Amino acid sequence: MIKFLTTTAVLALAVGGLGVSARAADVKEVQMLHWWTSGGEAAALNVLKQDLSKEGYAWKDVPVAGGGGDAAMTALKAMVAAGNYPTASQMLGYTVLDYAQAGVMGDLTETAKKEGWDKAVPQALQKFSVYNGKWVAVPVNVHSVNWLWINKAVMDKIGGKQPKTFDDLIALLDKAKAAGVVPLALGGQNWQEATMFDSIVMSTGGPEFYKKAFNDLDEASLKSDTMKKSFDNLAKIVKYVDPNFSGRDWNLATAMVIKGDALVQVMGDWAKGEFVAAKKTPDKDYLCYRFPGTEGSVIYNSDMFGMFNVPADRKAAQGALAAATLSKSFQSAFNVVKGSVPARTDVPDTAFDACGKKGMADLKAANADGKLVGSLAQGYGAAPAIANAYKDVVSKFVHGQIKTSDEAVKQLVQAIDDAR
Ligand code: BGC
Repeated sequence: MIKFLTTTAVLALAVGGLGVSARAADVKEVQMLHWWTSGGEAAALNVLKQDLSKEGYAWKDVPVAGGGGDAAMTALKAMVAAGNYPTASQMLGYTVLDYAQAGVMGDLTETAKKEGWDKAVPQALQKFSVYNGKWVAVPVNVHSVNWLWINKAVMDKIGGKQPKTFDDLIALLDKAKAAGVVPLALGGQNWQEATMFDSIVMSTGGPEFYKKAFNDLDEASLKSDTMKKSFDNLAKIVKYVDPNFSGRDWNLATAMVIKGDALVQVMGDWAKGEFVAAKKTPDKDYLCYRFPGTEGSVIYNSDMFGMFNVPADRKAAQGALAAATLSKSFQSAFNVVKGSVPARTDVPDTAFDACGKKGMADLKAANADGKLVGSLAQGYGAAPAIANAYKDVVSKFVHGQIKTSDEAVKQLVQAIDDAR
């Protein structure tokens, strides 16, 4: 639970609560904190800026670079502690609940009723956007992490085909290596490594195992042989990165695949936003496959705009932002560019490319089959402290500070216990 209701914050709330009669004219501006700074992300955000500008709202951008959002969340914490609430902030699942519990979120329920969100937004997302019966956040999209992004020309050159099992994937990486291409494009940052490990765990143990270990935090699953085998598989796959991978940003890793300097990246479908920005076409320039052994399952996250309890004269702008974000037309236009899929179930897939159409169909099927599970690396498996403990252990293993899979399992169990 986050504690930051300082005197300033309480004062800000009190002033905000003075009500309609005391306030000056509505502020026609939306202030948004986010970590969408790559080419594809900025293009997607532009769709929103333009929609709001048509309605007469100015955009006050608060970008905090750093994939995965850790830096952005540190900045947000400082702003909120100072009583300086943004209109909205990009947030991932459990972080929304933390802020809601701290009592600093606004209430969009009236807009939700008017717009019929209850029926349109899947329950898996409402679990995080509705707190104590009140809408406190608005989901922008659904991303999923269990994807491979492959350069088609490189794939053709090495005579590769879609890997159906983890061993197939290793054989494919070997082929790329033999051809002198970097097999695996990865950025050695903890959140990228853990995002890839999410897929490996699902592939190694299946969706039920993933859910028990990384959503239910079941101790027996966390310390199981399957978890150990997952770390063994992680050790196998990271052998295929290039020597400069440490610290590389995720979008630079995607660029390696786009340019044909590397064969494949294992990454959430925000990577597809980079292919879209580079004007690349699925099946012609690149291939999107589910991480082998995870077909039929979706490990998801969703970008939420957490709506703060801003002063009364900023609430109209906040309502406009919320309504625009969940409108059907925006959900299509934005997600086509972002690489994600709509956060509403009633948006047609017409405007989406082949990977987007597959993403939408996969989400629907996984949801119906009970194979839709929240990503631990991406804030939808457990509370932020636990996700951070997870990212830390995975990264130490990748960078050789933890030497064996046995030790990694032990440290994972310990770190998660400490963070509970
Ligand atoms: C967010 C994506 C974003 C990615 C990289 C993820 O946590 O959900 O929207 O594109 O980080 O910045």
